[in-house]
Amino acid sequence: MCGIVGAVAQRNVVPILLEGLQRLEYRGYDSAGLVVVHDAKLERVRSTGRVAELTVKSTTTHGLIGIAHTRWATHGVPSERNAHPHLSKDHIAVVHNGIIENYEELRTRLTAEGYEFTSDTDTEVIAHLIHSHYARGNSLLTATQASLAELVGAYAIGVIASDNPDQMVCARRGSPLLLGVGNKEHFVASDVSALLPVTRKVVYLEEGDVVELGRLDYRIFDAAGKLAKRAVVISELSNESVQLGEYSHYMQKEIHEQPQALADTLESVCNSQSLVPGIFGAQAAATFADINGILILACGTSHHAGLVARFWLEEIAGIPCNVEIASEYRYRTSVPNPKTLVVVISQSGETADTQAALNHAKGLGHIHTLAICNVPESALVRLCKLRLLTRAGPEIGVASTKAFTTQLAALFLLTLVLAKQRGRLTAQQEQQHLHELRHLPSAVQKVLELEPQIAKLSKKFAKKHHALFLGRGLHYPIALEGALKLKEISYIHAEAYPAGELKHGPLALVDKDMPVISVAPNDALLEKLKSNLQEVRARGGELYVFADADTHIHAADGIHIMQMPEHAGYLSPILHTIPLQLLAYYVALQKGTDVDKPRNLAKSVTVE
Ligand code: G6P
Repeated sequence: MCGIVGAVAQRNVVPILLEGLQRLEYRGYDSAGLVVVHDAKLERVRSTGRVAELTVKSTTTHGLIGIAHTRWATHGVPSERNAHPHLSKDHIAVVHNGIIENYEELRTRLTAEGYEFTSDTDTEVIAHLIHSHYARGNSLLTATQASLAELVGAYAIGVIASDNPDQMVCARRGSPLLLGVGNKEHFVASDVSALLPVTRKVVYLEEGDVVELGRLDYRIFDAAGKLAKRAVVISELSNESVQLGEYSHYMQKEIHEQPQALADTLESVCNSQSLVPGIFGAQAAATFADINGILILACGTSHHAGLVARFWLEEIAGIPCNVEIASEYRYRTSVPNPKTLVVVISQSGETADTQAALNHAKGLGHIHTLAICNVPESALVRLCKLRLLTRAGPEIGVASTKAFTTQLAALFLLTLVLAKQRGRLTAQQEQQHLHELRHLPSAVQKVLELEPQIAKLSKKFAKKHHALFLGRGLHYPIALEGALKLKEISYIHAEAYPAGELKHGPLALVDKDMPVISVAPNDALLEKLKSNLQEVRARGGELYVFADADTHIHAADGIHIMQMPEHAGYLSPILHTIPLQLLAYYVALQKGTDVDKPRNLAKSVTVE
């Protein structure tokens, strides 16, 4: 979703802004723009194309201070007039991520005051509002603070003024923003990857912070307006980790990074002889002893990870578990049980609905909270008492891959720790599970060897418009994830069903044009699944079965078998995810879509 980059430097900031925007492209956007101060004037360039187009348009733009933005449309269609930065009277320029909820009322008021609106965005009210305070003689900082006090909603903003070439003001509430500290220059960005070419020294801003940023120094004011100190941290993210390297797409790279990502996520556990609650934080043992249920809140792919975990948590740890889509839970009247552990799962840690759902749960009296997240300093991590960080590294492809499998690994650890604490795991079982976890990265590596076969198979999907995914039990959420991957990046309409539901509706759709993809692990439900597959075959449906080696499902006319190298017991959903990711990837290649940046989607959904 929208991205911000800003710089106040001793050199031309345009290349810094453009490279930063390019590194934020993965968040998803439909237009881009930048503005600099040059000769006491604001020079703005905007484009509805890619950042590469903006780069071409900005070749003659020059300035020592500037702000830039990639926009993912919320208010107003994607167009140049709606692209950021937004200006007020050619005097104030603003870039904004988030949504201003009271913008209509502010727009009416500001129009009555004589401000002319040139876009359909909510952001433009911020520019005019700041101008109205600035024009009364306030400093840019005071004008911004006064304006923010009038806003309802979520924002991360960067502000500059044509008559102030030395200072920028930025602020965050509900949307991520961080500062970059350079040598006599400072930067601001929505995520650290944008700043890696210029600095690794970053300051993560807190909710409600407003910052006045110059070349030599910066001052941070907290939500109460008091001067605040925030730690400067050295980002561990390496520049290489966000480079494409030998791969054609980030998604392909990230699929292949899964063995390493899993090994990194499981490192501390696999190197030890036993499982301890401490991996979730100092208060974990006491918290886990006080709970009698689990509530998982998440969106998208992270929600699917939660659905898998429910099976593990109930079956292995014997603890009741509910999994809810965050955007539903936050508006639902539910009955809270204070002895519940609320688990939020998120790659980015910034998803607006998941944050709101967590806050809603807290508001209902839930005190036990755990974040399973891939971004250490993110909002969700900070909002929770306990945490387990997945160590997948930066995930750039919009369609989540390595974040999902590492979330599953983390959730399996949670299951084992809870099972052990509840006396449901013998020492021998614990060792067996640890052994299987240590083996997991190499098991995933072996599954990746199916890539050429899947690439070949994908050709059969190039002309399809619909696909059905089937799974049962622990693997039904994997069918959901496979369908989500396919629709996200290949735009083929795909739905997933628990195989037993087939005859209650979707069987009506099955004919020779409907590919049916089935996840067929060798588990207790295999025989039932085989009957479901017969139901499909009998109606002429073409079957694509991802089967474990020992399932004895054989290829035949209309039945294509993809043989998985081994059966991984409880960890099987992790292995079975890999071929479905590869299938979606290669089908998208067949269709020629923009794999890493699928239309209309965003990586980090920081608005409701
Ligand atoms: C977006 C992304 C998905 C992701 C979902 C939840 O829709 O495109 O890949 O699963 O957000 O994001 P989170 O960062 O909370 O896991």
